[in-house]
Amino acid sequence: METTRISGIETPVSRIGLGTWAIGGWMWGGTDDDASIETIRKALDSGINLIDTAPVYGFGHSEEVVGRALEGRRSQAVIATKVALEWPDGKPRRNASAARIRTEIEDSLRRLRTDHIDLYQVHWPDASVPAEETASELDKLRREGKILSIGVSNYDIGQTDAFRAHAPLSVVQSPYNLFERAIDADILPYARDTGLTVLAYGALCRGLLSGRMRAATAFSGDDLRLSDPKFQPPRFQQYLAAAAALQRFAAERFGKSLLALAIRWILDQGPTVALWGARRPDQIAGLDDAFGWRLSAQDFEAIDGLLADQITDPVGPEFMAPPPNNAESGVMRP
Ligand SMILES: NC(=O)c1ccc[n+]([C@@H]2O[C@H](COP(=O)([O-])OP(=O)(O)OC[C@H]3O[C@@H](n4cnc5c(N)ncnc54)[C@H](OP(=O)(O)O)[C@@H]3O)[C@@H](O)[C@H]2O)c1
Repeated sequence: METTRISGIETPVSRIGLGTWAIGGWMWGGTDDDASIETIRKALDSGINLIDTAPVYGFGHSEEVVGRALEGRRSQAVIATKVALEWPDGKPRRNASAARIRTEIEDSLRRLRTDHIDLYQVHWPDASVPAEETASELDKLRREGKILSIGVSNYDIGQTDAFRAHAPLSVVQSPYNLFERAIDADILPYARDTGLTVLAYGALCRGLLSGRMRAATAFSGDDLRLSDPKFQPPRFQQYLAAAAALQRFAAERFGKSLLALAIRWILDQGPTVALWGARRPDQIAGLDDAFGWRLSAQDFEAIDGLLADQITDPVGPEFMAPPPNNAESGVMRP
């Protein structure tokens, strides 16, 4: 396992983090808690110590399952959770006020069965609350020892700068994978320049980069891929063709899987950690395949060419953005 340092956290942090959104069940067509607990424990056994969760993932359920899985093993884990979404009437929206943060920290500590959170991240920027209020409250929690380090998620550079004026920031968490690369233009170079760590979420593009997806792959219940624009024909076929081309490239050039290439590509971008969402232990079985090799400048170029050939109608992950604090809460995407 490759590791990195996140300022404020003493333990070296694994460069693959386990993403536990699906473990909450909500928006992933349900989930199986026993399998989830086994997955979290297997991740720890395999060298992953970073576990990323959020209160909104299953409205507390993901954090509860993480807390149960880490019973007796808390010291082996680096817990990253989030703050600043609320869900009155079951419809999440943004709220980064100091009062909301105070309520949420106690709820998260209880659900996670711990006395501190290693990395506490603002889940989405909330334009209705001054950056100073949010940042200062998180800094208070840090000084009280309830959290060790602070992150922001889904922030642009202006929002990040405004936040950093009032609290020490360690992490930016942003969507980043072979198919979703908006941060190449701003957040990633900014992080390189300022010493921030980038937690790259959706490392497998919600399974599109896993090697498992086919045109006939079906989703059920409240699975977000039923409405994710990348998974709708005819665009879905373009992404599947791109995944197939990348899979051939990974096999011929490195003898590796598409999934290993997807992770390696993130890790070779600089100060990055790949958040890999999994909910069954077999899904992280191929973990080690991502290590012991690197992509060259020519490899990056070849990959860009493959993607440009296949994806003529790209779309980003914007569909996930939750509504602002003061708007009517519509369909929620975390
Ligand atoms: N800050 C934010 O706003 C934000 C937003 C999104 C995500 N995140 C974080 O980033 C993490 C990762 O993103 P994500 O969970 O959305 O998606 P992801 O990592 O791109 O994809 C996860 C999905 O890929 C499939 N998969 C994983 N391993 C596989 C394997 N070995 N073979 C076949 N399929 C496999 C699984 O789907 P199936 O189980 O359905 O097969 C899994 O649920 C999240 O869990 C969360 O912690 C944060």
